[in-house]
Amino acid sequence: GAGFIIAIDGPAGAGKGTLARRLADHFHLNLLDTGLSYRAVAHRMLSYGLPLDNVSAAETAARQVDLGAMDREVLSQHAIGEAASQVAVIPSVRRALVDKQREFATRPPGAVLDGRDIGTVVCPDANVKLYLTASAEVRARRRLAEIEARGGKADLEQILDDIRRRDQRDMGREDSPLRPAADAHLLDTSEMDIETAFQAAKTLVEQAM
Ligand code: C5P
Repeated sequence: GAGFIIAIDGPAGAGKGTLARRLADHFHLNLLDTGLSYRAVAHRMLSYGLPLDNVSAAETAARQVDLGAMDREVLSQHAIGEAASQVAVIPSVRRALVDKQREFATRPPGAVLDGRDIGTVVCPDANVKLYLTASAEVRARRRLAEIEARGGKADLEQILDDIRRRDQRDMGREDSPLRPAADAHLLDTSEMDIETAFQAAKTLVEQAM
């Protein structure tokens, strides 16, 4: 594609979603949260009562995902994130979703995509690659603050356990494990607010334009 592509990868809770939205708004690019597509597959499996390791059903569900019709409200639920990381280990699910994500990335004027394998697999030729990290403790605290801001309750230790389990599954899987691309810029947001992260990313993007 001829458009400008920004790839953002990193573990759950590092701030990818917020940064991706800020960059897409600022540079007038399309925006795709690829985690939602894995969540959509998991959501379909759960709503039909199908086991998450049913490979052929998961592949069918992946083919049926419509990137333009994903309900963030429904898919953001915590249990769906955990289930998404289970269907995300299935290679045929990844192939089906990656095809759709690549097609999205070619649409003018270009796009910001965030996920786990954007810089390594989906868009290896992206103009700018960012890899966001933060310590598991900081990510757990942010998640807890989000839940509490919505009036919910949760246990910090439980969230920390969940984050560590998800990190292990995403970094340890055989197909497209989470890791920084060789040419990615690393941004550790442990002690950085979103505005500081945005300014740093904006500068990197401007240098690549
Ligand atoms: O980012 P989010 O928490 O919505 O992603 C849910 C899960 O989907 C991740 O834990 C990961 O297993 C999977 N995923 C992936 N590749 C992507 C995006 C998400 O494997 N590009």
